[in-house]
Amino acid sequence: MDKTSEKERINVIIESIMKVARGDYSAQIQLSGKNDELDSIAVGLNMMIDDLKAGTVGLGYANNRIEEILDIIQRVARGDYATACEISGKNDIFDALGMGINMMIDDIRNGIEELHRANEELRASNEELQATEEELRSANEELQASEEELRATNEELQAANEELRETQEQLIRSERLAAIGQLAGGVGHELRNPLGAIKNAVYYIKGKVAKSELGQKEPRLMEFLDIMDEEVNSSNKIINDLLGFSRTGKPSVSPTRINRVIEDTLTRMTIPENIKLTRKLDADLPEVNIDPDQIQQVLVNIITNAVQAMPEGGKLTIGAREKDKFLEVEVTDTGCGIPQEAMDKIFDPLFTTRAKGIGLGLAVCKSIIDRHEGNIAVKSKVGEGATFTIKLPLKAE
Ligand SMILES: Nc1ncnc2c1ncn2[C@@H]1O[C@H](COP(=O)(O)OP(=O)(O)OP(=O)(O)O)[C@@H](O)[C@H]1O
Ligand SMILES: [Mg+2]
Repeated sequence: MDKTSEKERINVIIESIMKVARGDYSAQIQLSGKNDELDSIAVGLNMMIDDLKAGTVGLGYANNRIEEILDIIQRVARGDYATACEISGKNDIFDALGMGINMMIDDIRNGIEELHRANEELRASNEELQATEEELRSANEELQASEEELRATNEELQAANEELRETQEQLIRSERLAAIGQLAGGVGHELRNPLGAIKNAVYYIKGKVAKSELGQKEPRLMEFLDIMDEEVNSSNKIINDLLGFSRTGKPSVSPTRINRVIEDTLTRMTIPENIKLTRKLDADLPEVNIDPDQIQQVLVNIITNAVQAMPEGGKLTIGAREKDKFLEVEVTDTGCGIPQEAMDKIFDPLFTTRAKGIGLGLAVCKSIIDRHEGNIAVKSKVGEGATFTIKLPLKAE
């Protein structure tokens, strides 16, 4: 056996070991067939290289499977639950891992699907809830509307009731007025003749006394006769008022210029100097069908009241105008005014707040204006004055 070939064989063995050390498992040492120690070493080395190769291949395989499984896990993490680990059928640990992960993916998918379903159910029941809420809201609105209707009907009912009560009161009032009017008219009529007789007698006695000695000796006799004369005059005024108030039936009307009646009234009256009179009479007013004497009496009574309400002086304004098929006459003063509680009563007969008043003036006014189918109204503020408005209908010819 030559030494050189033995050395060569050893070199081959060392080279193979170096290759393996560099990771090259392709090297297989050729056997010499000598079955010597070097061949045994070569066999042993060849087996070791085989083992190492098999081990390295197994490692690569494991690496691949692990990468596959990692990829699947990452997909699942991104929300892809349709993915699954491939099962090789080798029944190794990676198959077991893959199957376990697949079961987990199934579980997650099922859980998520269930969550979706629950979410859907929740959304549906939420929608139902919203619908019910909407229904409830509209039912509530309907309820509110019917409540409002009920309230309105109730208010209407109350208003109708109030109107009824007012009409009833007016009826009672006008019946009472008619009764008083009848009585007043009767009494007035009965007193008219005796008063006329007294007035004549006083006139006669005054004439006699003026010429007699008695008249010279007793100057107070004449004074008393004058007082009697004045009192008879004021009694006559009361009787005239009573008769004016009780007069029934239609007044004797004729087409009349209202400004004329106002001027005649003012000429008849004496307005105190501390009262400033202003006329606001529209020119060219149409003629109105009235009883001029009666309307004059109305104006006298209203202007007298106005003057009496301004003992310290003030302003008196008389206006006349056409408005909505009516002739309107307005008398305004700046006197004491009428308190609210008296407003309803001032047109009642015998209502007075004046010491020397009888309370017939405005009752007569109302009675005359009513008979003219007109209207009389008052507005007032205590301390500021009062405005009386008379409306007389303009008949469309
Ligand atoms: N212009 C006015 N300003 C303030 N109060 C007034 C006015 N006109 C009327 N009144 C009130 O209305 C009441 C009734 O007036 P009315 O003319 O009917 O009777 P009178 O003036 O009291 O008595 P008479 O029978 O002498 O007229 C008065 O007593 C007064 O309280
Ligand atoms: Mg009066």
